[in-house]
Amino acid sequence: MGSLDGRVAIITGAGRGIGREHALMMASEGAKIVVNDLGGATDGSGDADVTPAQSVVSEIEAMGGEAVANGANVTDWEGVQGMVNQAVESFGDLHILVNNAGILRDRVVVNMTEAEWDGVIDVHMKGHFVPTHWAAAYWREQAKAGNEAPRAIVNTASGAMLGNLGQFNYAAAKAAIAAMTLVGAGELGRYGVRVNCLAPIARTRMTLQTPGLEDIVAPPEDPSDFDKWDPANISPLVAYLSTADCPFTGGVFHVGGNEIGLYGGWSLAESDIIATDGRWTVADLQAKASKLIEGKNDLASVATSIGDTFKGFGDRPATP
Ligand SMILES: NC(=O)c1ccc[n+]([C@@H]2O[C@H](COP(=O)([O-])OP(=O)(O)OC[C@H]3O[C@@H](n4cnc5c(N)ncnc54)[C@H](O)[C@@H]3O)[C@@H](O)[C@H]2O)c1
Repeated sequence: MGSLDGRVAIITGAGRGIGREHALMMASEGAKIVVNDLGGATDGSGDADVTPAQSVVSEIEAMGGEAVANGANVTDWEGVQGMVNQAVESFGDLHILVNNAGILRDRVVVNMTEAEWDGVIDVHMKGHFVPTHWAAAYWREQAKAGNEAPRAIVNTASGAMLGNLGQFNYAAAKAAIAAMTLVGAGELGRYGVRVNCLAPIARTRMTLQTPGLEDIVAPPEDPSDFDKWDPANISPLVAYLSTADCPFTGGVFHVGGNEIGLYGGWSLAESDIIATDGRWTVADLQAKASKLIEGKNDLASVATSIGDTFKGFGDRPATP
C-alpha cells in the first residue's frame, strides 16, 4: 500500500530537477502522474521539447507505475486547461496539483531588461495561477456533483522571497507565490482543496549555474555520507502534503537536506506599531518613527538576515 494509492497528480516542470524527483517519489507511493514539462533552457529559452517529460514517464513505467507526458507551457490558458482534461481522461480524476515549473534570469535591477523581468514573472506567477485556476474549476464542478475526494495543491516558492540580491524578478515572483498560497488555501477549502507551498534548497541545473554555488552544492566525496543537496530530499514532504488526510493548509515550508521548517511570513506585531493623535505629521514622524528600527539590522522590515536560512543548513541534529 502506498500513501498516494488511487490518487492522480499533475506535476509541472517534472522533466528535470526537483519536479522529476517529485514525479518518481509520488509514483512510487502509488499516484498516477501527468508529467508536465515544456523543455528548454534554465532561462526559459530554446524550443519546446517533450523529451524530458517523456523520459520521466518511461522511468515511472519501468518501475511499474502509471504516467503520461504533457508538453504544455504552464502559462498557456488553453494548453493548461487541456492538461487538466488529460489527467481526467487518462486516469479518471485529479487530486493533486504540484506547481513546480520555473526559470531563472538573474540580474541586478539596474541592468535587468524588460524580457528578463517579464519571463520570470510570467513562468512563476502566471505559471502558478493558470494551473491553479483550471484545477480549481474542475474541483468546484466535482464538489457540486458530490465527488468530495480530498484535493491538494503544492506550490513552489524559494528562500529568495526574503530578498535575494540579483533576483529582483525571481524574489518578487516567489514572494507572490507565498501570498497566492494563502489566498488559495482560504478560497478553495470549501471544495476540499488544501494549498501549501515549498521553499526548497537542492542541487539542480538551476543551482549549478548560479555563480559561487557549484562547489557548495557538490555531492559528498564519500558516497556513503548523506547528500544534503540531493533534490530527492525535497519530495517526501510533497508526497506527505498530497496525502488524503494531511492536516496542513496555508503552509509555506523551508525544505532541504534533513530539514523541514515553517516560514512565519509577513507579520505586523503589536510592538511594531506606533500611533499618534489623528493624522501623523512629517515633523512627528521625524521625531518618533525611528523607534520602529531600534535594535534592528540595516533592512527595516527584515528580522533575520537571508544568510540565517543557510547557516547550519543540513547540520542540524534530528528532532527527537
Ligand atoms: N534548486 C533549488 O535549490 C531551488 C531553490 C528554490 C526554488 N526552486 C524552485 O524549484 C522549482 C524547480 O526548479 P529546479 O531547481 O528543479 O530547476 P530545473 O531547471 O532543473 O527544473 C525546472 C523545470 O521546469 C521546466 N519549465 C520551465 N518553464 C516551464 C514552462 N513555462 N512550462 C512548463 N515547464 C517549464 C523546465 O523545462 C525544467 O525541466 C522552480 O520553481 C524553482 O524556482 C529551486
